[in-house]
Amino acid sequence: MSTALITGASAGIGKTFATQLAQRGHDLVVVARNEQRLEELKAQLEDRYSVSVEVLPADLSDRLDIQLVADRLSDPKRPVDLLVNNAGYGLKKPFLRNEIRDEEDMLTVLVRSVNVLSHAAALAMRERGHGAIINVSSVAGFMASGTYSAAKSYVTVFTEGLATELARSGVTATVLCPGFTRTEFHERAGIKGHGIPDFMWLQADSLVKACLDDVDKGKVISIPSAQYKIAATALRLLPRPIVRAGKLARKHRP
Ligand SMILES: NC(=O)c1ccc[n+]([C@@H]2O[C@H](COP(=O)([O-])OP(=O)(O)OC[C@H]3O[C@@H](n4cnc5c(N)ncnc54)[C@H](OP(=O)(O)O)[C@@H]3O)[C@@H](O)[C@H]2O)c1
Repeated sequence: MSTALITGASAGIGKTFATQLAQRGHDLVVVARNEQRLEELKAQLEDRYSVSVEVLPADLSDRLDIQLVADRLSDPKRPVDLLVNNAGYGLKKPFLRNEIRDEEDMLTVLVRSVNVLSHAAALAMRERGHGAIINVSSVAGFMASGTYSAAKSYVTVFTEGLATELARSGVTATVLCPGFTRTEFHERAGIKGHGIPDFMWLQADSLVKACLDDVDKGKVISIPSAQYKIAATALRLLPRPIVRAGKLARKHRP
């Protein structure tokens, strides 16, 4: 039985990863701040799928908590075979209207925790000769829209580099780049999402299933759904002044 550790497992995409991985028979370590939600998820998944779920509450904007999760990933007695770095959020206001403390906290969650946890997991997995890491980025990483899109750009490029470094080690690294997905994300950020056409919204279930299929195929970049494959290709090919001028980049951010 293999074990998956998922950050941000209390809601949205992370909770969906936890559910689908339990369905596939993985034991889980679930990480987020809201311990009560994690305990409810544990009870539900253990009952429904007969797997074992460990609750590990952590605030990933806190360096000590990140280290706690890194230590769990490094523990040779309790190997973790799959890491999903998913926890994340966005800020409603543009960079200069936010307190720098809030910007720094977001960077810690979106970038530093991904960096530290990938390091701990990759070293332990490489030692054992197998494992997989999924880092949840965003198509916003191909845009130019404040700290969030810059952080997601980091996650994408960082994961590509990690995949190259891990080649032929038995360990894979995959970056998931979702577009707009129906979760608590936009409500938490105070972003309304009006004006985004229905066909641009993804469901977490199909997004996560497509990502896990891509991991099985050994893909490095996973961009589920035709509309976002096209959008991501266009954003990568367009001249940057056009990308910077984009209405979506200024208004919404997936
Ligand atoms: N939804 C979208 O349209 C979309 C699009 C592209 C990319 N993404 C990315 O997908 C990932 C998951 O987002 P989601 O859409 O599923 O959002 P969500 O429904 O709001 O869930 C976010 C998860 O992250 C956790 N989290 C937030 N801050 C945390 C912290 N400081 N420490 C630990 N956990 C924290 C939350 O748990 P607690 O509150 O319990 O801590 C929650 O489990 C994020 O990285 C996001 O950037 C989302």
